[in-house]
Amino acid sequence: MSWSGEFDFRSPEHIVFGIGTIERLGELAKGLGSRAPLVMTDRVLYELGATEAAEASLRDAGLRAEVFSEVETEPTLAAVDSAVEAFRSGGCDLIVALGGGSTIDSSKSVSLLLGNEGKLTDYHQRRVGSDWSPKRTVTKRGAHIVAVPTTAGTGSEVTSGSGVFDPETGVKGWAGHPLLRPSVALCDPALSVSMPPSVTADTGTDALSQAIECYLVNRFKPTSDALALKAIEVIGTYLRKAFANGADIEARSAMLWAATTVGVAFSNGGLIHNHTYAEVLGDVTHLPHGRLLGITLPHILDFNLIGCADKLVNVGRALGEPVDGVSAGEGAERAIAAVRRLMADIQVDDRLSDYGVTEAQLKIGADRVYAQHEARSAYSPRGFRNQDEVMGILKAAY
Ligand SMILES: [Fe+2]
Repeated sequence: MSWSGEFDFRSPEHIVFGIGTIERLGELAKGLGSRAPLVMTDRVLYELGATEAAEASLRDAGLRAEVFSEVETEPTLAAVDSAVEAFRSGGCDLIVALGGGSTIDSSKSVSLLLGNEGKLTDYHQRRVGSDWSPKRTVTKRGAHIVAVPTTAGTGSEVTSGSGVFDPETGVKGWAGHPLLRPSVALCDPALSVSMPPSVTADTGTDALSQAIECYLVNRFKPTSDALALKAIEVIGTYLRKAFANGADIEARSAMLWAATTVGVAFSNGGLIHNHTYAEVLGDVTHLPHGRLLGITLPHILDFNLIGCADKLVNVGRALGEPVDGVSAGEGAERAIAAVRRLMADIQVDDRLSDYGVTEAQLKIGADRVYAQHEARSAYSPRGFRNQDEVMGILKAAY
């Protein structure tokens, strides 16, 4: 790597991390000037009582907490509108987003609509060709967000992106702006203990894929690289343990740290095409994001290997593979084999056909990936040159 490059790096404002830190929620919300926060969550978490500690902390700090528990697993434009309505009718002044990536993403879109004119879709990236700029730009923060993740994967608690599904077009649109980034990421590993093994596997795979994809992006981004590589090492050590025993708080804590840290890395450093596939296939198949990432990740790495063998050697080393003293090609192969073994151990090694994905859906997927590939291909170790290459990866994963 040459050190003569140039980069931008934006940091999250405030990360609070540790077991039991949910008790500090009230103090943190108050510190942001809130008197009436809106707690956004999904119905399942609400019925499990997951918001109780949060509500208690807010009450203890003298705040009046309203709860909106209708966030959907796949957030839709209509659900975001309902949350905006709940915020306004409840006279709220801050959002506590307690849940997985969908809840935290939804809260960012609520904040966007509270502070900016027009429709949410005006702010979604136009993912065609190399210019993804949206029709309108966010100019104002609508509300402070305290993000409280209950999964360890998306990193949404520290990123500035928000994905919301539009049932009319059948596409999840992405809005992104630094003003959408949560003001506080309150990361309490105890809240992730109740995640079932399949969700632990899917969300942990999201973190792993984001870390590897970010590290492989061809840009001068030493800070993101350092964070991503360390996160790969931690995920390699702890994801199996968190999957094997959800009550292992040490593993939960390590995974949450890794996921949040990867969020900081990739929101600055970017991602390569494993996410393009997962985003497109998510719209077409509605399979979980992390599951899709796990299915295609080894094939994406196989395809890119010839353009980034040296970097893959470092990924292999972070995953504990013996890569010293072997050729870069051999070291890279060992890294990909280590990723395959990890995916198999946490049972994210299925094929698309196992989920009833049809060949017609593969074709739609290939069309959509190719239509939007340019922006990411420009920074990938190996960008796409034609649609057959796009389809080749889908067929390998089928
Ligand atoms: Fe992701």
